[in-house]
Amino acid sequence: MSSPLITIERFLLSQQPEYAKGDLTTLFYDIALAAKMIATQTRRAALLDVLGYEGTTNIQGERQRKLDVYADDIMFKLNDHTGRLCAMVSEERDDWIRIPENYSKGHYVMVYDPLDGSSNIDTNVTIGTIFGIFRVLDDGNRGRLEDCLRCGRDLVAAGYIIYGTSTMFVYSAGAGVHGFTLDPEIGEFLLTHENMRFPENPAYYSLNFGSYRSWEPEVQQYGDWLQTITEPRLSQRYIGSLVADFHRNLLYGGVYGYPGEVNLPNGKIRLLYEAGPLAFLAEHAGGYGSNGKMSLLDIKPDGLHQRTQVFIGNRSLVEKAEEFIRKQD
Ligand code: AHG
Ligand code: MN
Ligand code: MN
Repeated sequence: MSSPLITIERFLLSQQPEYAKGDLTTLFYDIALAAKMIATQTRRAALLDVLGYEGTTNIQGERQRKLDVYADDIMFKLNDHTGRLCAMVSEERDDWIRIPENYSKGHYVMVYDPLDGSSNIDTNVTIGTIFGIFRVLDDGNRGRLEDCLRCGRDLVAAGYIIYGTSTMFVYSAGAGVHGFTLDPEIGEFLLTHENMRFPENPAYYSLNFGSYRSWEPEVQQYGDWLQTITEPRLSQRYIGSLVADFHRNLLYGGVYGYPGEVNLPNGKIRLLYEAGPLAFLAEHAGGYGSNGKMSLLDIKPDGLHQRTQVFIGNRSLVEKAEEFIRKQD
């Protein structure tokens, strides 16, 4: 007999304890719906004239593409009125996002990168969405900056959606990391990857070696080590979409790194809505995420868009980066 078809809704309900079968479960439905809408748009991007730049820049000085803005809008519009959130933080918005006064507020805060890997959009290469969910610190308020500026250790759930040859929704609410694949015919995410774990023997490293000359010497030494080890011998794969690089390394084992550079000392990846949620997933899949010195989950951001150096993936490979970096101190 073939295995049962398990939709994301059915799986969430069976996984969550009784007390959590409310807002958190329904929040996932809303994110899954946003994911389907973004997937539909990305699939038809060239036809719908949503490729290219919007003509605006975000707080980090990056030129926004039309799909960055579209994805941000969808994530916001599907979550502002539901009464499940009290605040949001998006890569594409300067300040944290308040829930409009005319809507009731909920107990959760959602941080998100609406479209990750934007540089790949126009070339039909895999992109993603990253999200993390915190519980509000004080149920009595409507959400404040301090409810948003939290370390990854405080996350109650995190996940990503990957828009590749198929669309997948991967999440953890603290009990394993699970992956669902969108069946576009019926518009449902179906369980395809239960309990994802980094394989013990890694296969890949994913760093942009084009920046090698701008790295600190100890990071260069780590890069050299990755290229020369023989047990196991690793291959290089670098897509330039953090979600896609992370996803491949989760399936086959490996490490993704975005080190600091001479003119970009903390690298490019943002702590709150990129590194934190993925480090949460990594740890729940038996891996590890570090800034080279400590767990990414233990760094409390001072700013919403703070950047951090990142090494994330198989624990053994990430700890090796820490070893090289520690030697330098
Ligand atoms: P975003 O598109 O959300 O700004 O993130 C892009 C990030 C990340 O996804 C990727 O790994 C990295 O930028 C690629 O940067 P380089 O092209 O400098 O390697
Ligand atoms: Mn990103
Ligand atoms: Mn982005």
